[in-house]
Amino acid sequence: MKLKRFKNYQELSGFAATDISDAIKNKPSLVLCLASGDTPKLTVELLVKKLIEEKVDHSKITFIGLDEWVGLPPTNTGSCHYFFQNKLIEPLQLKSSQYFLFDALAGDLKNECVKMDKVIDERKGIDIMLVGIGMNGHIGFNEPGSSFDNLSHVIGLDEITKSVGQKYFNEQVELEKGITIGFKHLLNAKKVFLMANGSKKAEVIRTTVEGPLTEDFPASIMQRHENGFVLIDDEAASLLSKLH
Ligand code: GLP
Repeated sequence: MKLKRFKNYQELSGFAATDISDAIKNKPSLVLCLASGDTPKLTVELLVKKLIEEKVDHSKITFIGLDEWVGLPPTNTGSCHYFFQNKLIEPLQLKSSQYFLFDALAGDLKNECVKMDKVIDERKGIDIMLVGIGMNGHIGFNEPGSSFDNLSHVIGLDEITKSVGQKYFNEQVELEKGITIGFKHLLNAKKVFLMANGSKKAEVIRTTVEGPLTEDFPASIMQRHENGFVLIDDEAASLLSKLH
């Protein structure tokens, strides 16, 4: 794991967008897995802008959505599906064969997981994975206690996830379960960016970087990834006890 520190959210997002865009230039068939949420929002916007303005061929990339709230339709503006549809899939005009999102309304959610694992395995793993971090240290919906050996799975949501998650919705919603890519795929990914900004993430970043490597604090898995980068702005870095 390496730590990269930036002055602010703009610089942090600019770095990630440039890195991903360069990676697509070098490998047009790149397999990219992104989280939705507030943190990667600007990265996705800048990435889309770059790919379009610089006419980067993105017709062969595979895009994978990290997670989804179980039971929510893709039309719900707080769903991960809605985020990706509007911020990435439509602007880049990705073909339906190029992107894979969990169907959170599927009757057989287990099968959704099997299908996603197959998509990843057939492509020999994820090239770049960009994730955020929850206020309980989760990544995707790998909640505290999730095994580092998990493939895609469905999980009952932690209380913190349920309450913090309300921020994405215009009305109060019932959030009970999530469906997510598991940590086995993260550990197999060729490169992982965990991104955080703002002082509210300072405590979870300190635990991620300086705390013990434990399934009780999911983001600590970054310590195990040789090509894992924790990208943070000065505010998110403010509680780190030493210079990294
Ligand atoms: C959410 C999602 C994660 C996301 C994290 C942080 O609940 N399940 O995929 O990365 O929490 O979200 P944010 O970037 O909005 O702080």
